[in-house]
Amino acid sequence: MIKNVGIVGAGQMGCGIAQVSAVSGYKVHIYDISADRIEAGLATINGNLARQVSSGKMTDEERKKALSLIKGSADLNDLSPMDLVIEAATEDETVKRKIYGQVCPVLKADAILATNTSSLSITRLASATDRPERFMGIHFMNPVPVMKLVELVRGIATEEGTFSSAKQFVTALDKTITVAEDFPAFIVNRILLPMINEAIYTLYEGVGSVEAIDTAMKLGANHPMGPLQLADFIGLDTCLSIMQVLHDGLADSKYRPCPLLVKYVEAGWLGRKSGRGFYDYRGEVPVPTR
Ligand code: CAA
Repeated sequence: MIKNVGIVGAGQMGCGIAQVSAVSGYKVHIYDISADRIEAGLATINGNLARQVSSGKMTDEERKKALSLIKGSADLNDLSPMDLVIEAATEDETVKRKIYGQVCPVLKADAILATNTSSLSITRLASATDRPERFMGIHFMNPVPVMKLVELVRGIATEEGTFSSAKQFVTALDKTITVAEDFPAFIVNRILLPMINEAIYTLYEGVGSVEAIDTAMKLGANHPMGPLQLADFIGLDTCLSIMQVLHDGLADSKYRPCPLLVKYVEAGWLGRKSGRGFYDYRGEVPVPTR
């Protein structure tokens, strides 16, 4: 029975997962190496909940209750009472492997370790843990509080008990589950990221401007955000990592990351989180950067 949920990584995904877990009554502990990032994350969660109170979707009592269930620290040992730990660190296999090496010795023997990876092999990541049978993918979408879907992915060794506990947990968060097999980028990103990469090629080849491409897909295909706006929202570093995983894992040139995407990442223009990507977010309104 999952009661205590640990989150590794106080980024936008980790904090989103913490928020929805606490709102559903779970006790949550966020771990991050940066105390500042935890503080900023908790402030974002508070802001999101306050917005729900002002729009009448939540009472102030509920907001306070949810906030009281979330703690954070830069001390790994605080994860020891957790029944489920969800790693939501950066999309980098070396970083994730290092985290598992540090987290596993702290965890209870029967604790479940899950990853929010958006593309990496669950089976391969599991091999870097001491518990491949209690390891799996629980992949939330961004923004976590708004998006209804969660992808569940078993590794080769994931036990049925682990899968059913994860399913129960995600269902309690009022999310809809889809089950994906353990292949590069699973379902959503296998389909979504090549579309975004193609939008970047469309820009790179001069077929349209940033504005033209986003307007085309918003009004011509009824997407809530244009693909370049969405790329900035996801983070261009994450978009590039996912394309590289698809390219390497499926060995098909159709997944070749657009050189313009590589250039933006090399410039440190990572989208909204760094203030600049296909749009510049430093002023009042986002301005296209080409
Ligand atoms: N965090 C929390 N809540 C947010 C939010 C955020 N970052 N952004 C918006 N919201 C909430 C708002 O508070 C609002 O809530 P209420 O209805 O309760 O007031 C609601 O979302 C709608 O917001 P807005 O009216 O301001 O904005 P919108 O109608 O333009 O919708 C959006 C915003 C939901 C983000 C919409 O643009 C959208 O659906 N975009 C596409 C998102 C998407 O495709 N996500 C998947 C990315 S891929 C992924 O995540 C997988 C991966 O591994 C990379």
